[in-house]
Amino acid sequence: MFPAEKHIIKTFNKLVELLSEVDRNKPQVALLAGSATPYRNDTDREMPFRQESNFYYLTGCNIPSSYLLVTFQTGTGLAQMPSSQLFVPPIELADIMWSVPPPTKEVAAQIHDVTHVEHTAALPDAIHEILKAFPSAIFHTLPRTSLFPELPEKYIGLAATRNEPVTDEYLLTALHRARLTKGDAEIALIQKANEISSRAHETVMRVLGQGVIGAIKKAKGAGTERPLLPSEWLIEKEAEAEALFVASCRREGAVHQAYLPIVAGASRAATLHYCCNDKEFAWGPVGEHDHLNHNELEHNEARDLHPQVLLIDAGCEWDCYAADITRTMPVGNGGKFTPEARAIYELVLEMQKLSLEVLEPGLHWDAVQLLCHRTLVRGFQKLGIFKSTTSPNSGSWNSEEAIVASGISTAFFPHGVGHSLGMDVHDVPSASKPEVNDTIGKGVELGHPEFYTYLRLRLPLEEGMVVTVEPGIYFNPHLLAPVRDSKHINQEVLKRYEAVGGVRIEDVVVIIKDGHINLTTVRSDVEWIEGVCSGVL
Ligand code: GLY
Ligand code: MN
Ligand code: MN
Repeated sequence: MFPAEKHIIKTFNKLVELLSEVDRNKPQVALLAGSATPYRNDTDREMPFRQESNFYYLTGCNIPSSYLLVTFQTGTGLAQMPSSQLFVPPIELADIMWSVPPPTKEVAAQIHDVTHVEHTAALPDAIHEILKAFPSAIFHTLPRTSLFPELPEKYIGLAATRNEPVTDEYLLTALHRARLTKGDAEIALIQKANEISSRAHETVMRVLGQGVIGAIKKAKGAGTERPLLPSEWLIEKEAEAEALFVASCRREGAVHQAYLPIVAGASRAATLHYCCNDKEFAWGPVGEHDHLNHNELEHNEARDLHPQVLLIDAGCEWDCYAADITRTMPVGNGGKFTPEARAIYELVLEMQKLSLEVLEPGLHWDAVQLLCHRTLVRGFQKLGIFKSTTSPNSGSWNSEEAIVASGISTAFFPHGVGHSLGMDVHDVPSASKPEVNDTIGKGVELGHPEFYTYLRLRLPLEEGMVVTVEPGIYFNPHLLAPVRDSKHINQEVLKRYEAVGGVRIEDVVVIIKDGHINLTTVRSDVEWIEGVCSGVL
């Protein structure tokens, strides 16, 4: 069973830390609303239901239009065994006729880790009773904005008639702080989402590879007398790759993608959160020494795919817990990277490998960001994209140090190396970034302030945190424009690499006592990626 009570205790212990000494020992009552079923205009048909994350965290309840009423008090029995009352809608005849009804109260009580289950009609009396029993209670809600399910005035009004405050100032902060580190049950769900998503990434790569060796054949009548069957699908467009990815997750039972998949071919891989997924791959002709793609099934002309990358950043959810995985694979060129794409891929892999090696509790996340920039600069100097010095004087204008300090690597790696991940993909933002970052003077050398603009986590790592490690290198004309004339760049060499577009490699890891465990199971080494994408493995 989802450990809701454990989450309530953790959250309310964080909540009381936020309160003044006087308020800390008072009873704390919280009322949360779950999400309602969304409908689309005039379809009379439900859209997929996704529970509000905080509500799920405290209840494990996926029943639409439910409520939770919690009572907690430090220093009393309610600190070890808080009261958590779940209110679920009753079964209506119309529910049974049109759709699947909610479980009965009795069933709901068996499957949820709460102290009591009632129907929603009992909620006003329950609020009344709690406030009568705990007249000095502080009454907490989530912020009453459109970001969270609406809490009707008829419920809030019952608490607002007292002298004690009704406040939305603390509960979300406490929830984000509690959710920042994950328990075993949460990690297991994230692992499951990662396993399903990893298989979906591999499926796309394998279908690409099967296309390369001509193993995907259309049987008689396919595409004319009848639609293609999945075994006849080639991947020649971003949409086809997306469809296969989503289908693979869905057939394993995942209801939701954790975010809209990013499926970007060729130069579109340089757009970090590309969202169209609607372009064909770039078509040749290619040079005579390039590998053929045997793509004649869809394109009965003498055309071949241009060598290009396909970047897929996609992950499903499992029971409200997310995966977030990026793989970049070769398309065209017989399923092999071009020398330039391979060099950039290997450099991104090096950025990721060095990052993973240092992860452990206590390490400040800023240090990982800096490490990635430093690795990029060193790699670009080796490739000749950045000029180097042979001078032993490390203060030279084109030394690694000087280039790191200039911040120019931000034009190629503009985002953060990773973020907290959990029920939401960019999980618990308010707990991920302190208002004042304290890395300076604590043994972390910052490099350049622009490295941190889009870094979504600015904390030392803790055991139980789940984070993504997702370095990337991009050749985006808009980001390159301001550095075109930089003295650090060898323009001739850069030109050769620009066609690569972008490479990102993203895995999800959990921080443990001695380091980390990688929860993403799909491989990313060049040998395997090329082997699969060329149909050899
Ligand atoms: N999928 C969005 C991200 O990687 O942050
Ligand atoms: Mn990510
Ligand atoms: Mn991602």
